[in-house]
Amino acid sequence: MNEELSRLLHEDLEQRQANHLFRQREVVEPIDSTHVLIDGKQYVNFSSNDYLGLTHHSKVLDAIARSAQSSAGSGAAGLITGYTSLHRDAEDAIARWKGTEAAILLPSGYQANLGAVQTLASVAQARGREVRFLIDRLVHASLIDAVRATGAEFRVFPHNGMTKLQRVLAQGRATQASPLQVVITESIFSMDGDAADVAAIAELKGQYDFVLLLDEAHGSGVYGNDGAGYANELGFDSLADISIVTLSKAMGLAGGAICGSKLFIDGVLNHGRAYIYSTGIAPAICAAIPAAIEVMREERERQARVRSLARRVRDALSISSTPNDSPIIPVVLGEVARAIEASVRMRELGMLVIAVRPPTVPRGSSRLRVTLSCDHLDDEVSKLIDALKRA
Ligand SMILES: Cc1ncc(COP(=O)(O)O)c(C=O)c1O
Repeated sequence: MNEELSRLLHEDLEQRQANHLFRQREVVEPIDSTHVLIDGKQYVNFSSNDYLGLTHHSKVLDAIARSAQSSAGSGAAGLITGYTSLHRDAEDAIARWKGTEAAILLPSGYQANLGAVQTLASVAQARGREVRFLIDRLVHASLIDAVRATGAEFRVFPHNGMTKLQRVLAQGRATQASPLQVVITESIFSMDGDAADVAAIAELKGQYDFVLLLDEAHGSGVYGNDGAGYANELGFDSLADISIVTLSKAMGLAGGAICGSKLFIDGVLNHGRAYIYSTGIAPAICAAIPAAIEVMREERERQARVRSLARRVRDALSISSTPNDSPIIPVVLGEVARAIEASVRMRELGMLVIAVRPPTVPRGSSRLRVTLSCDHLDDEVSKLIDALKRA
């Protein structure tokens, strides 16, 4: 490898190691939705986003197996030959489930966010209109990366800081350019498990003209009618102009979807480079999407159970937020070393709880990010609570 590059990598990675910020993987073999093997040792997995246990649900697995017999990959991007009837049916199923006119599938949630933001910026630019993104400080990296890459103006407002958001919206409205303003937030935040102030955003929507992009990565499946999401649960179905769903969390699969009006989805097909220039999601995954949605509809007890387990853990640890039943539970420990140490201790007790460090979370808020699944046993959750109390 190039010598200069080697030197840079050595220097940077050594520094990361010294600061306990070096990232590395290990092989984790799933046994079922809540148990894994690492180096031959079994752990209860409290770090997956498989909230409803669908990664191992027989109906989802059967749908994949049936479809995988006829085709492994899509072979081309959706605008070339990579859009099959399975893609169309999966998109229709997602749109019906979310209550939107249309949906479009991308290979990951990351790309779904990228494609949606690219579309917003590119359409505005094509029509000679300025665009201005207003983003909550704690939104996911994919949204930050997407917004930065557009080169458009953006403002960051404090987490759920509605007063500041209102001020920024008013400033934008008052400028001569009168840009298209786009508010970006998450329904359930990925690292804190708390929710956007959806009611306050709805109120602002009544006062200001803006587009709302709501990332429902962690709200989908866990909240709403048949898992339609957190906005649906609160009765704000049509509040978001654009909703993002990731299939990689409660749906137990992989991929992401942009949901919205038929017009916006046509916009994505013409401006969303993350869609246009990427091979279509695998047909077998498409086949599994309607199956996963059907399970959410038929087995509502999954949603109820994961939320009741979350309430139990939150109550026991006095970790409260709104809502108080999201299965993402942050056990904030502060310094990086403390979080890592706690994670190691949990492992010694047979539980896999990953430490989350900066830059994924703000400095000084390193934590154990505990996630629950409806498939966790009551006993396992009791042990988790005991161990976390000691941590
Ligand atoms: C809020 C949020 N949005 C988007 C993504 C990206 O989804 P995916 O993992 O499917 O690329 C994630 C995943 O970590 C997320 O937490």
